Amino acid sequence: MHDHPIFTGVYRALAGLGERAGLGDLRARVLEPARGRLLIVGLGPGHDLVHLPPAVTSVVALEPSESMRAAARSRVAATKVRGIDVEVLDARGEAIPLADKSIDSVLLAYVMCSVDDVDATLAEVYRVVRPGGAVCTLEHVRAQPDSWHARAQRFVRPWWPRLAGGCQVDRDTLAALAKAGFEVSGIATTTIANLPPVAPTIVGVAWAPEVTNAANQGVSDTPWGI
Ligand SMILES: C[S@@+](CC[C@H](N)C(=O)[O-])C[C@H]1O[C@@H](n2cnc3c(N)ncnc32)[C@H](O)[C@@H]1O
Repeated sequence: MHDHPIFTGVYRALAGLGERAGLGDLRARVLEPARGRLLIVGLGPGHDLVHLPPAVTSVVALEPSESMRAAARSRVAATKVRGIDVEVLDARGEAIPLADKSIDSVLLAYVMCSVDDVDATLAEVYRVVRPGGAVCTLEHVRAQPDSWHARAQRFVRPWWPRLAGGCQVDRDTLAALAKAGFEVSGIATTTIANLPPVAPTIVGVAWAPEVTNAANQGVSDTPWGI
């Protein structure tokens, strides 16, 4: 069950507020290494489409929620007007209907908390992205043990997924990316939200193996934060 229409409305409003509070700038910076054919896993209401860099030529977006696909419609249309083809698929990260190595870059933004199977999703991302491709990443994650963020995550854990479209607040997505085979030294851990359970965040770029040093330079040095 991936359609949560009430959550869609709430998330769309929060994402809009976030844009104005600095999240839009962060999304733009996260997307900087993206180029060519970009895969977005979990399109949501589509705020990332506003921040695509010029090097992105087309987008394939997975979104299993009908209400989210409807919420993204105007941003999808506006992106097409800018000359970037966008294909939105009713599909999940765990079963990406694309050929091996057919994608140049990937965006994972606030989605790995919600997928049903993290390892299966990252295995699929690994399969479809070309060697050396960028996996642009912006995800809230598990807090440091014994921190007050960790206590907040333990407190909300039993009921938060029912309110937030299945979101699990304490996933170790950085470890999962490394386990899936991506090179993760370009990802930083930071705190970027006012809401304690979702404040601990990883941000930056993971690379599919066979990346050249030149492609990696500079990105891992980017100072994050809003
Ligand atoms: C919190 S929203 C984030 C949307 C967007 N990426 C953003 O940054 O605003 C998470 C989205 O992931 C979608 N989703 C949930 N499970 C998924 C799965 N297994 N595969 C792909 N998308 C999924 C949800 O429907 C929802 O639209």
